[in-house]
Parts: sequence; C-alpha cells; structure tokens
Amino acid sequence: MQQPHLIQFPSIGDSSLGYLSVGEGLGAIPFPIARVYWTYYTPQNVQRGGHANIGKELVLVAVAGTITITTEMRDGTCDTFVLDHPATGLFIPKLCWHSMKYSHSAVQMVIASNHYSEADYIRDYSTFKAWK
Ligand code: TYD
Repeated sequence: MQQPHLIQFPSIGDSSLGYLSVGEGLGAIPFPIARVYWTYYTPQNVQRGGHANIGKELVLVAVAGTITITTEMRDGTCDTFVLDHPATGLFIPKLCWHSMKYSHSAVQMVIASNHYSEADYIRDYSTFKAWK
C-alpha cells in the first residue's frame, strides 16, 4: 500500500532570475497526469478536503503560501505535512483521507491521475473507515 509522501521537484534558476520547477507524468509525478486544478482565496479559518478518493491519486503543491495537510490511511496511519515551498509536492495515494488548511493568500495546485468524478469521492468519514 502506498503512503502519502513528499516529492522534491527540481528548482532551475538562481536568486537573481527566480526559479522554475517542473514535474512530468511518470517522472516526479508518479502517474500519468489527467487533470490539473488549483484552489485559492480560501479563508484561513476554513478546512478544505475532508474526503478520500477511491481510484484517484493526487500531488498537491503550495505554489504560494503555506498549506498544512493531515492524512489518514485505512490502516490508521496519520500524518501531518507542511507544504511551504513551490518546489515541494505531496503525493496522496488512493483511499487516503485528507484535509487541508491554508495560510493567507495560499494557492494550491492539484495534479490528478483521473478526471473529475464525484462518484470517486468518499466524503463520509465512517464510510471511509468501513471501506473494504
Ligand atoms: P473538492 O475536490 O472537494 O475540493 P477540496 O479537496 O479542495 O475541498 O472539490 C470542491 C468542489 O468542486 C466539489 O463540489 C466538487 C467540485 N469539483 C469540480 O467541479 N471539478 C473538479 O475537477 C474538482 C476537483 C472538484
């Protein structure tokens, strides 16, 4: 079973020019990329997420600001990850319950292995815990 883990992207450039980071499907992003979306203007007191996906894998990147993500796997393994650099990503495997909190003006980019399907979401925690 795959566990959530941090991914380091290359940083190309220097402090005089600025930097460029890149992740390719089946490279630093460990799946073929189907969809990219981003979330922004999330108030600091709001928690997003609160769900798991049955068949979708994700990589989350805080392209601006700081995002704190809590994860729980079905075996009960819990972790907290802090994304505070645009060259760092967090891999979220299938069946990983995850929630996110954002610093002021944080922007989260999500790279997904599948197209959006609401049927792929488990949004009820007890359903997640009982999932076979
Ligand atoms: P959700 O994945 O729950 O966002 P987060 O994990 O950041 O809380 O999606 C939020 C809402 O947006 C939900 O109603 C589903 C909808 N949505 C789309 O319409 N298209 C998409 O590609 C995604 C990912 C979500």
